[in-house]
Amino acid sequence: MTTNTEQQNAAVADRKLLAQSAYSDGRHLAARQSIYRWQQPRYDLPGMVTEELAGTHGTVVDIGCGNGKFVSRLRKDRPDLRVVGVDVSEGILAEVENPVLVADAQTLPLAEGAADAVLALHMLYHVGDVPATVQELARVLRPGGVVIASTNSATDKREMDQLWKRAAGDVLGIPEGPTRVSLSSRFSLEAAPDLLGTAFSDIRVRKLPGIIEVTDPAPVVAHLASYEAWAEQCGVPFGETVARARELVADAISSAGSFRVTCLGGILICRR
Ligand SMILES: C[S@@+](CC[C@H](N)C(=O)[O-])C[C@H]1O[C@@H](n2cnc3c(N)ncnc32)[C@H](O)[C@@H]1O
Repeated sequence: MTTNTEQQNAAVADRKLLAQSAYSDGRHLAARQSIYRWQQPRYDLPGMVTEELAGTHGTVVDIGCGNGKFVSRLRKDRPDLRVVGVDVSEGILAEVENPVLVADAQTLPLAEGAADAVLALHMLYHVGDVPATVQELARVLRPGGVVIASTNSATDKREMDQLWKRAAGDVLGIPEGPTRVSLSSRFSLEAAPDLLGTAFSDIRVRKLPGIIEVTDPAPVVAHLASYEAWAEQCGVPFGETVARARELVADAISSAGSFRVTCLGGILICRR
C-alpha cells in the first residue's frame, strides 16, 4: 500500500465523487472483487460473515453495502434475519433488493440500539471522519450486538503499487512515477484495531493472506482501471498508464510464466 497525499486522502473520502463516479454503479467495485478469483487460498468472505453472525437474530445493517454481495448472501443463508443495505450511492443501491437506505455512515438515520449487528465491510476508509463513524456504528448497535468490519493491510497488493509506479514512470519518461492512490490506507488492517478500540473493547482479527497469480493481464488491468474515478489525483495520464501497465504485466507473464500479487486482508469482529 502506498501513502496518499492529503489531496488524495480527501478524494478517497469525497462523498460526491464516491456516489456519482467511483460507486455510481457496481462496475468498478465488481472489477476489484473479481481479481480474488485468482487468489489462493480462496476465502468465502460472505460465508465467513454469515458464520460470525450465527448467534445473531433480528436486524443486520450492512453499511456501505455497495452492490449487495453480502446482503444477498445473508438473505439467502439467513432468511430469518432482517437485512438492511445502506449506502451513500443511490446508483449502486439500484442493484440491491429492498429494504435499502441511501444514507451516510457518519450520520445514520437509525435509532440508538436499532441494529443487532452492523457490517462495515471495506468501507470505513471512505468516510470523512473515521473516529466519529466508529462511534456512530456503536450508537446504532444494541448492547451485546456485534460489528464486523473489514479492510486491507498496508502491505496488500504491493506488486500492483510497484507496477503502477513503473508504468507511470515510463509514461512520464522518468525512472519511477508517482504512487497510485491507496483506498484502504485511511483505515488499514494495522490501524483498524486502535480506531475501532475507541468504541469496542473486544476485537478479534481474522487475517486473510493469499497470493493472486494470473497468466493473463486482464484481471490486473481491470483492477488498476477501476481507480478511474481518482484519475485526476494520479499525477499521470490515467489511460496511458493503465495501457503501459498491461504491457509490463504481459512481459512479466511471457518471461516468468505468471504475474503474482501478494494479498493481505482481514475482518474484525467487534463487541462492546
Ligand atoms: C469498496 S465498496 C465496499 C462494498 C461492500 N461493503 C463490499 O465489501 O463488497 C465501499 C462502499 O461504501 C460506500 N460508501 C462510501 N462512503 C460511504 C459513507 N460515508 N456512507 C455510506 N456508504 C459509503 C460506497 O458507495 C461503496 O458502495
